[in-house]
Amino acid sequence: MGSLQNQKPDSAGVMKPMDPEEFRRQGHLVIDFIANYYKNVEKYPVRSQVEPGYLQKRMPDSAPYDPEPIEQILQDVQNDIVPGITHWQSPNYYAYFPSSGSIAGFLGEMLSTGFNIVGFNWMSSPAATELESIVMDWLGKMLKLPSEFLFSGGGGGVLQGTTCEAILCTLVAARDKALKKIGRENINKLVVYGSDQTHSAIQKAAQIAGINPENFRAVATTKENSFGLTGAALRATIESDIKSGLVPLFLCATIGTTSSTAVDKLGPLCDVAEEFGLWVHVDAAYAGSVCICPEYRHFIDGVEKAHSFSFNAHKWFLTTLDCCCLWVKEPRALVDALSTYPEYLRNKASEQKQVVDYKDWQITLSRRFRSLKLWMVLRSYGVANLRKFLRSHVKMAKNFEGMVGMDKRFEVVVPRNFATVCFRIVPAEIDAGNHQQVVTKEEAANNFNAKLLERINESGEIYMTHAVVGGEYVMRFAVGASLTENRHVILAWKVVQEHASALLTSS
Ligand SMILES: Cc1ncc(COP(=O)(O)O)c(C=O)c1O
Repeated sequence: MGSLQNQKPDSAGVMKPMDPEEFRRQGHLVIDFIANYYKNVEKYPVRSQVEPGYLQKRMPDSAPYDPEPIEQILQDVQNDIVPGITHWQSPNYYAYFPSSGSIAGFLGEMLSTGFNIVGFNWMSSPAATELESIVMDWLGKMLKLPSEFLFSGGGGGVLQGTTCEAILCTLVAARDKALKKIGRENINKLVVYGSDQTHSAIQKAAQIAGINPENFRAVATTKENSFGLTGAALRATIESDIKSGLVPLFLCATIGTTSSTAVDKLGPLCDVAEEFGLWVHVDAAYAGSVCICPEYRHFIDGVEKAHSFSFNAHKWFLTTLDCCCLWVKEPRALVDALSTYPEYLRNKASEQKQVVDYKDWQITLSRRFRSLKLWMVLRSYGVANLRKFLRSHVKMAKNFEGMVGMDKRFEVVVPRNFATVCFRIVPAEIDAGNHQQVVTKEEAANNFNAKLLERINESGEIYMTHAVVGGEYVMRFAVGASLTENRHVILAWKVVQEHASALLTSS
């Protein structure tokens, strides 16, 4: 009842939404709730099993007029919200890419939410800006990025919310640099390049940045090249565009594509880009994390010649969403494209150009104190443990890959680079003749694998998602949830095999 009284106005009619003792009491309840959630997360079906609109049926039509106690609210979270959650923190979660949680990441988030600052410029909270710059230099060194990407080398890093924002910011920086040379009236000539495997973030960024929709090139990749973009294919596309009077602007190269974790080899791509004056952004949203391990660093060889590089600490680096780390060699280009300086933000430190004002490195003005959680992660685990953590996932994925390889009904479709395995039941196992319509062996295989994946996912035992690469429907097994152990991986393979056997027998 204490909470009820505390949330009601006191006798003088003043509500106390920040009463420290009440915060302590309710905060402990919420921490206990979350700790219990983690303890029990394995018991829930991994993919939520609710039907669309389920929550509307359970909720009142309008907000409560009188306050309700935290105990009741938490009870409703358990009863009504948890069933509608897909459990990304479950050890049996292998879908999309991970959202690896950690105590340090979580508590860092709590601290920054606790301070609840709005750190748009240095003056609005000097620690937020300075810690961000320091942490980005630390991380840049961990990744062995060339010194030009670090503040100490004339470049610098910034924490964006997501990779979509990072790509958009770098694209508008590149666009404005180019337009200065060719004139704003020629914006329709600018061309943006990626591969047919590049994340849709680049297309969205191009749309927002005012690039002519006809001037977005998704250069074809092939299975022979493991779905990586080649320098030759890029060159051919660029040359054809130049012949048509267009102006090549921007290449988004990917280290660890979303569908199959393919790698675009940066060295040859950057050479071509340099020849034709393109800005190269390296999107290592998923795989960037593991490049802090010396044995994986080679995947970003060639980054010396890129203009910007980003990875998501909120994917596979124990840091809660959102936290995309972006480095640029030329912060001036970002600032030129993104800065505004209204009177109400004027201050001495900015005026004297003594400080970084991160509002000018991003889309929004207001920004969160994200560096605190990243700093907590780096300090709490240290480079040594972070590497161990990442390697343990790669090892588990390798183990899964080995088990797939031993069952003749299955194949690994593309080489595994990191901790994601793309696999399927081979067409030879599937009887194409059994289908109602006449289909090719490959179509039958695609249909069958899609059906198998749905069966597996609706069981709630594990959760994987799919991709189509080179026309082949594959199941993606992405290891990366922080609670996953090898026993879960062994169990997952058993689940896949059992569902496959049942479906093969019944079809
Ligand atoms: C390679 C790649 N790029 C970009 C993104 C988009 O990331 P975000 O959601 O942070 O914008 C993803 C998401 O999975 C990704 O895999």
